[in-house]
Parts: sequence; C-alpha cells; structure tokens
Amino acid sequence: MPMTREQLEQYRRDGYLIFPALFSPAEIAVLRAETARLAAIEVETVIRERTGGVRSIFRVHEDDGATRSRAFRALVRTPRVLEPTRQALGSDEVYIYHTKINTKPAIEGTVWMWHQDYGSWQRDGCTRPDMGTFAVMMTDSTEMNGALYVVPGSHHRGRIDPYYDENTSYKFWAVRKRDMIEVLRSSPPPVPIIGPAGTCVLFHCNLLHASGHNLSAEDRWHIYISFNACANAPKFTAQSRPDWVVSRNTQPLPIEADTLSSGTEPELVRAASPI
Ligand code: SIN
Ligand code: MN
Repeated sequence: MPMTREQLEQYRRDGYLIFPALFSPAEIAVLRAETARLAAIEVETVIRERTGGVRSIFRVHEDDGATRSRAFRALVRTPRVLEPTRQALGSDEVYIYHTKINTKPAIEGTVWMWHQDYGSWQRDGCTRPDMGTFAVMMTDSTEMNGALYVVPGSHHRGRIDPYYDENTSYKFWAVRKRDMIEVLRSSPPPVPIIGPAGTCVLFHCNLLHASGHNLSAEDRWHIYISFNACANAPKFTAQSRPDWVVSRNTQPLPIEADTLSSGTEPELVRAASPI
C-alpha cells in the first residue's frame, strides 16, 4: 500500500513513519515460527550475545544460504513493504542491502548505541543517503523490553562522523558521546517505537536511533529490512564487508502479489515451510 501524500510529507519531515497493524496475527505467527527455526542454526550469519543468546540473524531474504527463509523472502517482496520504501527512496529500482532479525532476548539482550545507519553505509561506498530501513515488529514492543528509539527530524542534520564501537558482540559505527549529547539537547525528545506485534516503521538512513537493554521477561523480535537505491550500489573490492551485510545482489527487487488480505491462502502462510 503506497503512502498518502500526507504520510510521505510526514516521513520527509520526521525521518520515520509508523504503520500500525500492518501484518496480521496469523502472518506474525508464521514469521515467529521461522525466527525460532533460524535462531537454532549455528553459522556466521547468526550473531550471539556474549552471554550466549542470539542477538541477530542476518540474510533471511535470499534463495540461498544457511539462513534463507521462504516466509521472509515473501515478506520483503510484499507491496506493503516495497511500495512505501520505493517512495521513501525516490526510486522504483531498489534492492535489499541486508536483512537482520534482532531477537533481543529477555534479560540478556543488550543495547544498540545511538547511530545512523548511513554512518556505516557511506563507509561501504554508498555515495548518497538514498537508503532506508523497513522494520516489522514480531513481538509487542515496549519501553521495558528495549524498544527502538528515534530522534525525530535528526536525519536533516546529515551524516555525523562516527566512531567504531566495540562494546557489544556486534561491533559497528556509532555516534560519539559529545555529538550525541549535543543532538539530544537540541532536538525534540526521542520517541519510542512501541506497539503490538504487526506494527512497522520505515526510517531514513541518517535518522539517529538506538535501543536499550531488554529488562523484561519476554524476547523482543524485530526484523530490519534495509534498502538501497540500485543507482547507489557501492563498488565492491576485496575490502568490502561480507555479502550478508553489504549485499552483492543489487538487482531491482520486484513487487510480488500480496494475497494476504484477499481471503485466499496467505502468501506468507504458504511460504512458511523452509526451502
Ligand atoms: C539497529 O539499529 O540496527 C538495531 C536496533 C534495535 O534492534 O533495536
Ligand atoms: Mn540501525
């Protein structure tokens, strides 16, 4: 479903847009069963917390690889995901930069420090910030279980030079303390993206975001589907990060039929079995 003109204006103004109840409980049940299956696989694309629980599962959208999944492959091709993403990126030719499921397990799931995704992606060789992420919440998201926080409008600041943060089991480029304090003191308060499973959010690659520890008794499962405009694909070299973070498949992603609301057998349910 495309964004209305008002929604697109809101996305451009705030750097993010929430889509309540975009996926049904039946669809979410399929995605959750797949997440549980994938979390049991021992492979480099499944990243663990230092305490042992699963932190992230990468590359769930392709036809090949250990963490492939028909259900997630179908999810990323639905018009509900792809139409707003194409509008946000300003191009009908977009591809998936990477997918990752952040499982943030109860009690042990740790922080994602304040960062901009483009902090890493420019370093990968993407010359323009024509990128964004569509996230689907597969469990209820609450402040207590480590909800994603965003700083509204912060994408207008452009890219802030990051530092390499090594404090978590998945090391990445984050925003320095002094820069982040300046941003927080001069911005509207951060907004927690909370809501029941099935809630989605689309956000710009320069939007500042972070999330805290999961202090609750329940896991917090989100999938982050990150997109790039095909025209913005980086040049690949021997130093490029692996395919599961910087996809080598830069072909335009086709929209596939979304039968989920037609009353016939839902595509995601049919796609539930592993390839
Ligand atoms: C991310 O920004 O990549 C992940 C944030 C989260 O899972 O809370
Ligand atoms: Mn991020």
